[in-house]
Amino acid sequence: MLEDALGAVSAAADLQELQEVRVRYLGKKGLLTQQLKGLGALPPDERREAGRVINEHKAAVEEAIRERRAALERAALDEQLAREAVDVTLPGTQLPQGGLHLLTMVTHRLLDVFTALGYEVAVGPELETDHYNFESLNFPAEHPARDEQDTFWTTDGRLLRTHTSPMQVRYMETHRPPFKVVVPGKVFRNEAVDATHEAQFHQLEALVVGERITMADLKGAIDEMASALFGAGTRTRLQPTFFPFVEPGAEFAIYWTHPRTGRQEWLELGGCGMVHPNVFEAVGYEGVTGFAFGFGIERLALVPYGIPDIRSFYQGDLRVLRQFRGAL
Ligand code: PHE
Repeated sequence: MLEDALGAVSAAADLQELQEVRVRYLGKKGLLTQQLKGLGALPPDERREAGRVINEHKAAVEEAIRERRAALERAALDEQLAREAVDVTLPGTQLPQGGLHLLTMVTHRLLDVFTALGYEVAVGPELETDHYNFESLNFPAEHPARDEQDTFWTTDGRLLRTHTSPMQVRYMETHRPPFKVVVPGKVFRNEAVDATHEAQFHQLEALVVGERITMADLKGAIDEMASALFGAGTRTRLQPTFFPFVEPGAEFAIYWTHPRTGRQEWLELGGCGMVHPNVFEAVGYEGVTGFAFGFGIERLALVPYGIPDIRSFYQGDLRVLRQFRGAL
């Protein structure tokens, strides 16, 4: 019986089988247990010796079961460790990495330039009222810029701002001079879309108001921006033109070397001028002067990189966008 028991123990393939073997020999009705129970039936002189032998066998089977259990548990653990092992030398999963849009990079660059000069940054609503977009900016009622050709009107009589200049008025209403502020933002024009015109584009507006702000300060600010963007000593020019909310008004250009053709040329950027007295009156400012300028950000991004079609800024074509990853 001992040989059978030991053979069954070492043949047990798992803990479940081992438990069955234990019950068969050592359980309440186990074969060895029954032998012990049968001792009483033996003649007294045989009992001692038989008891010793049975107990020895019982101890041997118990010991064999303990060893077998330990071995099976170790094997199970080894198997689990092998199954759950992680190969730390495998290459990781590469997550696709996004990047900033070229227009965002150009905008950040401009904001860096102006915040370094002490300007605040403010933003305003894209959905505007006639009051802020036109009226308070001294647009005469019959001004062509109010023409529905140019402006997207909403059914409730509001509009998508056609420039960032309405923020001049909004900012002045909530701040006291002196101050310097720049306003980046999206603007909308209801015009035929082609390679150089989009129904939406971005502008940067600057407004400086104080006690003795002059046209020379305006020229100085534009010079500073030009030098910061295109190198020290970059020339700029102002040519007289009309905007209702400035007087005198001008358009401004930067003389630069075209990075692709290598030719020197004037890059027409935007409009500028001294804040019109009627605008100051509308916000209740007295005894101050100020200048403002505004320009399209797309132009600053299109021309340097030779992008032929403004629409490629908005189509989300990754082949286009990837070319400018980390460009600035
Ligand atoms: N808002 C004008 C435009 O969109 C530009 C401008 C800004 C002109 C500030 C003068 C002063 O064309």
